[in-house]
Amino acid sequence: MTDSSDPASLKRAAALRALEFVEDGMKLGLGTGTTAEAFLDVLAPKLRGGMKIVGTATSERTAQKARALSIPMADLDGLAPLDLTIDGADEADRALTLIKGGGGALVREKIVAASSKRMIVIADETKLVAKLGHFPLPVEVSTFGHATTAARIVNAAAKLKYNHLPLTLRLKDGAPFKTDGGNYIYDCAFGAITDAPALAAALSAVPGVVDHGLFVGLATALVIARETGIEVIEK
Ligand code: A5P
Repeated sequence: MTDSSDPASLKRAAALRALEFVEDGMKLGLGTGTTAEAFLDVLAPKLRGGMKIVGTATSERTAQKARALSIPMADLDGLAPLDLTIDGADEADRALTLIKGGGGALVREKIVAASSKRMIVIADETKLVAKLGHFPLPVEVSTFGHATTAARIVNAAAKLKYNHLPLTLRLKDGAPFKTDGGNYIYDCAFGAITDAPALAAALSAVPGVVDHGLFVGLATALVIARETGIEVIEK
């Protein structure tokens, strides 16, 4: 049993369970978001206790927090292949397909996940869904000609029968939100995603799309925290 149903306690419970997968000497990918930060919070005391790992961050925000916690860090190119990445998600289904990018870090998150032998996703139960797509799918695009790219995304979606796709340029403080890579994000409200691999391929083929938040075939386990306990879903 977890000690409380409040979101922070559930995130911490998922993080603690994921810590059981971490072994001395591992090279770790460190995710982005509040749940991934809960993992950093439980990892740091283990390192003070003598465990040795080296991490690589999926965002500037995570890198900053890891440094503040004295977690040893290195660039991905010097570390890959990674043993394990621990990250959160905006939505996950039981096939271990994910929507990510609510925190704007989807490109680095996908690169790090793809560079890892395993990816464990930690989340509270609200993230586990029967069908992906209620959470608007983040699509990162080059700033150059971004509105024309957005129109091509709408056309690509229509070919897959996602008609009248509501798509919103993400803003922060009244200006377009810029990712760590200097790009924009369009949040695309697909509603229900019926064929994630087909949609992923179609979006990746759009000129101007840097990447999208559909993670297909990358996660190897989900750690889902509920008030009643933890469920680990593996392939
Ligand atoms: C960051 O870009 C996202 O992919 C996060 O992993 C996702 O938004 C989950 O964040 P929370 O753990 O804060 O819900």
